[in-house]
Amino acid sequence: MENFSYFALARTLHVMGVVIWIGGVAFVTMVLIPTLRKMENSHDRLVMFERLEGKFGFQAKITTLITGISGIYMLNILHAWDRYLYFQFWWMHLMTFIWLIFTIVLFVLEPLFLHRWFREQAEKNSEIAFAWLHRMHIVLLTLSMLAIFGVVAGAHGLTL
Ligand code: HEM
Repeated sequence: MENFSYFALARTLHVMGVVIWIGGVAFVTMVLIPTLRKMENSHDRLVMFERLEGKFGFQAKITTLITGISGIYMLNILHAWDRYLYFQFWWMHLMTFIWLIFTIVLFVLEPLFLHRWFREQAEKNSEIAFAWLHRMHIVLLTLSMLAIFGVVAGAHGLTL
């Protein structure tokens, strides 16, 4: 245990958090929502969505916390807060931005009003509501993939 490194442990937990979290977002975006959009009965579609997304929401909250805490810990150890000042570290900005959006949505907007608002929209016009939901997920997944590309490339010496 002489060479035990908390930094390496933080990086490991960070990547595991990202895999479960963004992997889940990829599943919801590319499998779950397209399947729901094909369902005939719009009431069943909403019920099914709320059941499945509810389960994923809990998992996303835990993994967002693990990713955020380990990320901030690594920034401290690296004394790398000044990376936010330089454009070459655009992936640091993107990573943090994605984390912030998910944190605000999962911990603030959803419990406050987003859940209720989406239910109302889906009851009014299910096709439009689910098309909008799909678009939002595609945007977030694309940004997340770009951030992962940028950070792994950046942290291992591939500069653009
Ligand atoms: C508060 C939010 C976050 C902070 C402060 C943060 C910070 C960091 C730091 C300091 C590193 C190490 C970089 C280096 O070795 O130079 C890192 C690695 C990494 N981050 Fe984040 N991060 C955050 C959120 C995210 C998110 C949302 C994602 C995914 C979309 C992500 C994906 C990764 C990956 C995949 C690595 C590993 C890179 C490698 O070692 O190959 N991070 N993060």
